[in-house]
Amino acid sequence: MIHYPRQIIAGLTLAGLSFIAGPAAWAAEPAPAPAATLAASRSQPDPLQWFKDARLGIFIHWGIYSEGKGSESWEFHDGKMPHDEYFAQAKMFTAANYHPEEWAALFKEAGARYAVLTSKHHDGFALWDTKLSKLNAVDGSPAGRDLVGPYCEAMRRAGLKVGLYFSHLDWSHPDYASILPPSAKPVRQPEHSNRWGYPQGAEDPAAWERFLKFHRGQLQELSSRFHPDLFWFDGDWERSAEQWRFKELRALLKGWDPKGILNSRMGGYGDYETPEQYIPLTPPDGPWEFCVTINDSWGYQKKDHNFKSVRQVVRLLAECANMGGNMLLDVGPHSDGSLQPEQVAVLKGLGRWTQKNTEALYGTDTGLPAGYFFGTSTLSRSRDTLYLFFFDKPMGPIALKGVRNQIRRISVLGGPEVSFTTNGGAPWLNMPGIVWMQLPESAIDPDATVIKVELEGPLDLATAPKKTAP
Ligand code: GLC
Repeated sequence: MIHYPRQIIAGLTLAGLSFIAGPAAWAAEPAPAPAATLAASRSQPDPLQWFKDARLGIFIHWGIYSEGKGSESWEFHDGKMPHDEYFAQAKMFTAANYHPEEWAALFKEAGARYAVLTSKHHDGFALWDTKLSKLNAVDGSPAGRDLVGPYCEAMRRAGLKVGLYFSHLDWSHPDYASILPPSAKPVRQPEHSNRWGYPQGAEDPAAWERFLKFHRGQLQELSSRFHPDLFWFDGDWERSAEQWRFKELRALLKGWDPKGILNSRMGGYGDYETPEQYIPLTPPDGPWEFCVTINDSWGYQKKDHNFKSVRQVVRLLAECANMGGNMLLDVGPHSDGSLQPEQVAVLKGLGRWTQKNTEALYGTDTGLPAGYFFGTSTLSRSRDTLYLFFFDKPMGPIALKGVRNQIRRISVLGGPEVSFTTNGGAPWLNMPGIVWMQLPESAIDPDATVIKVELEGPLDLATAPKKTAP
């Protein structure tokens, strides 16, 4: 039986949650840390370290939209499908072939170090048996069971960190959309005939308070039951950070689980940035992760066959690694839980390459700045090994410039030695010569070739001399 939001959420009691005795229970600002506490917390291991080393995660968009007729949530938001028809898709959400241990084995084979599952998308349908709404896999679909717990267990058993995607906004909750962002006009715009498209009517602060209790309540359920290593938030854009009270939400989440990390989609109160479907052109400050679809859709869509090739995802991953970031590659399982053969093939192909080039990827630092090598690169944490990635078949020797160190050895990762010569240089300006590397044709990798350059001592780069002539 399919339940509809207004009927089901009315009458739900939130009283069972101890922390939500009243808004004050979460409205308290975090107390400023005394100097001693701060010093102690600084000496603790960095909770983001695993994330900074991880390089590859797999994003999973799975929900009642996964029959493949249209996109996740946006389909009714954008008026392409009526809300009831969208929710009727839940009848097909069987999870009959849901084997999270198979997902975990495949993600691990691909080279992923973490995964992120949509525990609840903007449509408000939860994959766990939330007690705060009947819109969930147990009460509202033939899957009939909690799907988040088995995923968390399977990922952990395979040694992967567990991420949970959670949409702040909930387009099916009757108390949502009751409070307008400060910039909005308090009238419904006629061109948005859909209640989910834009906030309507005047602000109802009491409804917003109820919504915030519900929102915090669901997050507390997820945190206390599944202890995710990472909360991957989304849907913060329709309200301001003050309306969402993100500062106090951060304090709440960190209080429940100090080791859990948060993405930035909480009005900037998160731990790392999430550029979506584009790779930054210059290295961002701080930790970051590029999220990208394996074809053109987040959730499974029957008509979308525009899969990226293995070469393309390898290149995207190498470009992220070059700037110290991660790639979160999205797959959309079918509503029965199975992955399309095309998705599996891309992940396996990626795995062949990541397994061969492990040491050039994980736990590495940002590579060479622009101008030293015309490809992407990474640097070992010990700073004495450079990894140079290139994507095409070279037509002649490959150049590396501006490296002052003596070179101990150059080889293809997982392959033969590379011969090299050094030409030129301007010793009077401390400018090193150009290293020319001759790559054996047999060592070229069909997806991307990685050259390992072992240096004497930590990388010492020349910078532009003040004058260019002796
Ligand atoms: C976009 C899409 C949303 C998806 C998200 C993942 O915001 O609109 O559906 O879940 O990207 O980052």
